[in-house]
Amino acid sequence: MKFEKGTTSRARLLTNDWIKSTLPDLFDFIKLGLPEYDDRLELWRVSLNTKNSKQTIIGEIKLDKAVTKIVDWTKKDLIIKRLNKSRLDKNKDVKKAKNTSLIYPAPIPNKIILGDCIQVLDDFPPDTAQLIITSPPYYNAKPEYSEYIDYQEYLDFLRRVIVRCHNILSEGRFFVINVSPVLIKRVSRNSASKRIPIPFDIHKILDSVGFDFIDDIMWVKPEGAGWNLGRGRRFAADRQPLQYKPVPVTEYILVYRKRTDKLIDWNIRNHYNQELVKESKIVGDYDKTNLWYIHPSHNKYHPATFPDELVSRVIRYYSFEDDLVLDPFGGSGTVARVALQMKRRFLLVEKEPEYFQLMKKTLSPLFSPDLRVDFDIFENDKI
Ligand SMILES: C[S@@+](CC[C@H](N)C(=O)[O-])C[C@H]1O[C@@H](n2cnc3c(N)ncnc32)[C@H](O)[C@@H]1O
Repeated sequence: MKFEKGTTSRARLLTNDWIKSTLPDLFDFIKLGLPEYDDRLELWRVSLNTKNSKQTIIGEIKLDKAVTKIVDWTKKDLIIKRLNKSRLDKNKDVKKAKNTSLIYPAPIPNKIILGDCIQVLDDFPPDTAQLIITSPPYYNAKPEYSEYIDYQEYLDFLRRVIVRCHNILSEGRFFVINVSPVLIKRVSRNSASKRIPIPFDIHKILDSVGFDFIDDIMWVKPEGAGWNLGRGRRFAADRQPLQYKPVPVTEYILVYRKRTDKLIDWNIRNHYNQELVKESKIVGDYDKTNLWYIHPSHNKYHPATFPDELVSRVIRYYSFEDDLVLDPFGGSGTVARVALQMKRRFLLVEKEPEYFQLMKKTLSPLFSPDLRVDFDIFENDKI
């Protein structure tokens, strides 16, 4: 059968357009096969292949005989799963260890997304992230300030986020969460103040979702940091036993590992690029105890930011170069900034447009021209 000139290039063009609009994030990772005409079905087929040397087929696009439109395609989910499974060989110097299956990250570029992380994270495949570091929104027990109906609703919300984090984190990798008990001031002279032990309730959630508890690191702030909360003033004046209340100057940095029967050594040995493992070695001084003395940070535009120092220690101890670091509660973008400095990739989600714009403004000048960073706005009916 004879076809008019340019038929195959038109098929490729239409297929490329389809990928760009349907799977924009994966455009850089898919290579088109040669368009072939199927005599029996009287249509054109273009295979979607991985870009690595093996060129595994991960999907197919079918076009009508006249090459005017796409008539059928492999489901998006399936393409993502296959792409993930094919373990994209991004680095030339991959050394294959004998009798081991190497672990490859999903090929996701740097991203900052405006949206609710519960919805946004549903869009990402397993093995998206190799480290999660986050500090969830504050729970305020006073109904007039809180955006949650009650404490249980707050915990349910966190559970939904944690389930999604679990789905997309690579096996045996770390989830690091900064949380602290919340102090509820007394409402009158006749009532007592109260502390809600949020970290212990979150522990139960993390455990039930499938994380193993590894460490409780204490972020120690300089003394005086918590005095303004008023806790401990009564005791300071009266010195009565039973009234003792220390001023909290610590926050928890809880470290969990995605449950697996494999030892951490397995994560190191099966890393897809042993050069990166070598480059990421922790040299020089390091924190020998779980007390980390770090000054809190202040940001004019965001009320609750991580100090860079805290994030850089977590990234240093719990990830390799080129890993993707996820913060589902992006805030002012500290995790993105520090991840970038430490040669890691990042994925941040933030639901407030104001903070999303703040990140755009403050982070963009830090990106080199050849670095791919997407600022996306999540829409429910995206694909
Ligand atoms: C404690 S702050 C995190 C600050 C961040 N660690 C930093 O260094 O800037 C929590 C952030 O989570 C955001 N947030 C709350 N609920 C969210 C949700 N459902 N999805 C995405 N972001 C959310 C808040 O707007 C807030 O900016």
